[in-house]
Amino acid sequence: MPNWLKDAVFYEIYPQSFKDTNCDGIGDINGIIEKLDYVRDLGCNALWINPLFDSPFKDAGYDVRDYKKVAPRYGTNADLYRLFGEAHKKGIHVLLDLVPGHTSEEHPWFLESKKAEKNEYTDRYIWTNCWFYGISGHPYIGGEAERDGCYMLNFFKCQPALNYGFLNRTADWQSAPDAPECIATREALKDIMRFWLDHGCDGFRVDMADSLVKEDDENKSATGAIWKNIREMLDKDYPEAAIVSEWCNPQQALKSGFHADFYLDHHGNGYNTLLRDNETPGGDHSFLKKDGNGDIMRFLIDYLPKYDGTKDDGYISFITCNHDTPRARLTLGYDELKIAWALFLTLPGVPFIYYGDEIGMRYLDIPTKEGGYTRTGTRTPMQWDNSRNHGFSDASSEILYLPQDPAEDAPTVEDQEKDPSSLLNVTKELIALRHKYTDLQADGSFDVIYAEKKQFPFVYRRGNLLLAINPSENKASAALTEEAYILPNDQKATKLTPVYSIGEFKQEANTLTLKGQSFVVFSLEA
Ligand code: GLC
Ligand code: CA
Repeated sequence: MPNWLKDAVFYEIYPQSFKDTNCDGIGDINGIIEKLDYVRDLGCNALWINPLFDSPFKDAGYDVRDYKKVAPRYGTNADLYRLFGEAHKKGIHVLLDLVPGHTSEEHPWFLESKKAEKNEYTDRYIWTNCWFYGISGHPYIGGEAERDGCYMLNFFKCQPALNYGFLNRTADWQSAPDAPECIATREALKDIMRFWLDHGCDGFRVDMADSLVKEDDENKSATGAIWKNIREMLDKDYPEAAIVSEWCNPQQALKSGFHADFYLDHHGNGYNTLLRDNETPGGDHSFLKKDGNGDIMRFLIDYLPKYDGTKDDGYISFITCNHDTPRARLTLGYDELKIAWALFLTLPGVPFIYYGDEIGMRYLDIPTKEGGYTRTGTRTPMQWDNSRNHGFSDASSEILYLPQDPAEDAPTVEDQEKDPSSLLNVTKELIALRHKYTDLQADGSFDVIYAEKKQFPFVYRRGNLLLAINPSENKASAALTEEAYILPNDQKATKLTPVYSIGEFKQEANTLTLKGQSFVVFSLEA
């Protein structure tokens, strides 16, 4: 386990939309370099950058045409190497985005694979052995290649599935996961990873990490075996490199060698009941919505078994949002966001902040771009200041990669820096708090102290700290039981010292009362 992950607070950058330095309306690597001080001053000490490799951009770069080449619109490989160096000088680690399950349909491997004559890449992708036979249960394409066969898709039409084999084979065109062609795919993936690690990157966020071996549905054992093999390489040659999976099943992902796994935007899961419970009939009952009448138990029932079952293997990563999910500002106001970030930044595991969420950027209702569809509204250019294009670019507004928030009160870094109680400044304080107390970091203990169905507040312990959160708009009280005072070393705490708060609280004897929309952290001392 790379030690730096313990205190890591990530900042996710969608490179298209962060900072444009050459006036072409699209963000670039030099722009990221320019803003590294901002990232550091926010308190983030790690980056995840969405794919910035050569691509036709039919899925915003998740359709990679050359894994080892930076897309010219972002700069050059040399720029990226410089970014690694500059980030490291500021104590910032950098994860790239690795797309292992598919390439672009324009990737040279695929162009070779489509050919009728057999070659090194014939079996790099999943093909049936007849133009007329498709693949049941999976999307596939026929009629596009000289080759006699149909190929499987992993996501969009532009993303043919790489061949890691089938665990449960039902047709003779299916490879076994340990067949030479599947081993070759895995080794090609390792080669890409080594390439970037050798140039100074610190690891990868791994796209659709669970999607490698097909019909591997039981417990993903064959896909897991590939990642274990890759983890062996990392442990041996790059022990400080980290891999974070888009899997959303920490029991599987962390046992397969990932250091952390994302808790994703999946309908009805614990994370979504906290802030995106807007598909449930009868209104939005998100716990973090002030009038949602939410229920922390819906989160805990899902989260606790995941946490308990994996805390010795790795970390669960909470996100404020990502490039695939609606921004939380869609349903939550600034005060609700402060409480939301307070929760995400004080839970165990490794947290990720999506660029712009620290100022509460809005989700915009705009037309699709580069395969974004409803995700596009979350991918708009960062709002730095109140100058033209909010400081994102000096280009004319018409050519910006995406439009910006047209509202008079569009949030900007410039405005929020001036206001001590802004979301930006509260986010900074929360990150600073996490760096200050090791108990709040990735592997500090986590115990539930007060959590009752449909009741507020939620009270929890992280080591020697006691935390309480009341996202509702109403005052709420909890009785602090004996358990709240037992320190991890079994001594009994006699003193509760508040070390941080948002809103208002009162602690009298064993009753803790929080005003609506409040949060407090106490240090417990014997
Ligand atoms: C992941 C990415 C998403 C992409 C898809 C296909 O879910 O986060 O943006 O479209 O994989 O690569
Ligand atoms: Ca640019």
